[in-house]
Amino acid sequence: MWKDWVRPFVRPLPQWSAVGVVPAAPLVTAALRWDGQAVDVTADHTVASLHPLTIASSVDGGARPVLEYRDGASGRLLGRLQLVRDSSLAAGVAPLAFYRVEAGEHRCLAWPLRPWNAWLQNRGMAKHAASNHLNMPPAAAQQLMIAYLCPRPVVLVSVAAEEHRNIFPMDLIGPLERSGLYSLALRSTNVSEPVLRDVRKVALSHVPAAMKGMVYKLAVHHRQPPQDWNGLPLPMRPSREFGIPVVAGALRIQELALVHSQIIGSHTFFLARTISSEDREEAAQLHHTAGFHQAYRRRRHQALPEA
Ligand SMILES: Cc1cc2nc3c(=O)[nH]c(=O)nc-3n(C[C@H](O)[C@H](O)[C@H](O)COP(=O)(O)O)c2cc1C
Repeated sequence: MWKDWVRPFVRPLPQWSAVGVVPAAPLVTAALRWDGQAVDVTADHTVASLHPLTIASSVDGGARPVLEYRDGASGRLLGRLQLVRDSSLAAGVAPLAFYRVEAGEHRCLAWPLRPWNAWLQNRGMAKHAASNHLNMPPAAAQQLMIAYLCPRPVVLVSVAAEEHRNIFPMDLIGPLERSGLYSLALRSTNVSEPVLRDVRKVALSHVPAAMKGMVYKLAVHHRQPPQDWNGLPLPMRPSREFGIPVVAGALRIQELALVHSQIIGSHTFFLARTISSEDREEAAQLHHTAGFHQAYRRRRHQALPEA
């Protein structure tokens, strides 16, 4: 018992928790606030790049808006990001606003655990810098965790061209509701990035939480595509319109036509129109949230089921 009390003081919380979420009512809401105005952007903001940490939204919140995350049930403030509009960026296909993250804070842990946990996490990241694929400055990594207060679905992205096929996990994805577009932020070094820009279509498999192990294994495909579809460790089937192989046991399949791409720092930001959306089953879907958000919920006996 005493170990449960002592543990947070000697070990950092995990940066991310992989959890199962039934995507019905939002657990956490997001609002953009500026000059006394507030607009709900729960389904209208996305991470466009990690380095520099950039948020995109269809909502123009002026030069210096604040992005606020609140618990969907209690309305309590969980965290906030101070944004600065980057007017040098524009998407062309839609009037999107891009914001650099200038600062951030969360309220999921009480003082002094909050700064202490951040210190422990930052020390861990510095120690494992070589294997840390995020490769972000510690302050930006902390701000990214705040952006994950809204649990983000993890999908498997399938791409198929004559000479190239791939399937890999992504979570820097999501709708920009007011523009009618869907976004994906893919590290520009990903082996399939040039193919995506060329074939301009992908299929997303939204997977059950129970598939976490398999999904993580497929992260190697960010660097090395599989030899053929048949060698994959999970049953596949063709998507409805494009005929791209997707996960047979997926809860939801989306087919996207990529209408725009631009490089923003470390990532290529793709914008897409949804061609088809097949909702097959309502069940716990694999999501990522911040470890401190899961700790907040655990203290209230509302922990999300770990995947
Ligand atoms: C669950 C999961 C989700 C990921 N989502 C994204 C993403 O949205 N965009 C991206 O560029 N890379 C994404 N990645 C890839 C990683 O950032 C990383 O590039 C990949 O795992 C290769 O790691 P390495 O550079 O250590 O070999 C994801 C990886 C995992 C395991």
